[in-house]
Amino acid sequence: MSASLFCWPASLPLMTAPIQLSAGGSLYERIGPEALAALVTRFYTLVAQDPDLSPIFPADLTPTAQKQLAFLTGFLGGPPLYHQNFGPPRLRARHVPHAITPTRGRAWLACMENALQDTPQIGEAEARELHAALARVAAHMVNTPDDDGTPDGKVGQLLSID
Ligand code: HEM
Repeated sequence: MSASLFCWPASLPLMTAPIQLSAGGSLYERIGPEALAALVTRFYTLVAQDPDLSPIFPADLTPTAQKQLAFLTGFLGGPPLYHQNFGPPRLRARHVPHAITPTRGRAWLACMENALQDTPQIGEAEARELHAALARVAAHMVNTPDDDGTPDGKVGQLLSID
């Protein structure tokens, strides 16, 4: 992995790495709807407090959290709630109006890591898999260099979010 790739930490997976699938059903089934909802609530509580993220999010994060929960439900193998309610996610296009810098990408993932740690209903294996999958999507959302000129770089293709 190239260290120059928009300063994405070398420990995070690239888009081209296959997502690990485990036995025992979809991640959605293994995590369950209640734990997923708790995770999303905690995540946006942290986003609202994050100095890098809060300026680009609306003050009322309730609709954002509802959309995220709908998206993650389908993304992890549950009912396709986002598609049903809001149409094709086309996530990268929906993020284009927002300046998603590498710094904000890392901040987003840090909030997710902390939210996962604060959601003990989600087991360690599931938390690890979820984080790996989200790290790939987050890398794909980066669309703006940092102020210091660090380029966003080319992040490749991700088929499952459209
Ligand atoms: C990389 C860092 C990211 C940043 C800084 C970021 C930021 C944002 C912002 C500012 C919005 C608009 C909120 C609103 O107006 O309601 C948004 C919407 C959304 N984001 Fe992200 N996002 C990131 C990564 C992700 C990832 C990894 C996912 C999916 C796993 C995701 C899923 C969504 C969804 C589903 C929406 C709602 C889209 C809609 O308007 O229908 N975002 N995000």
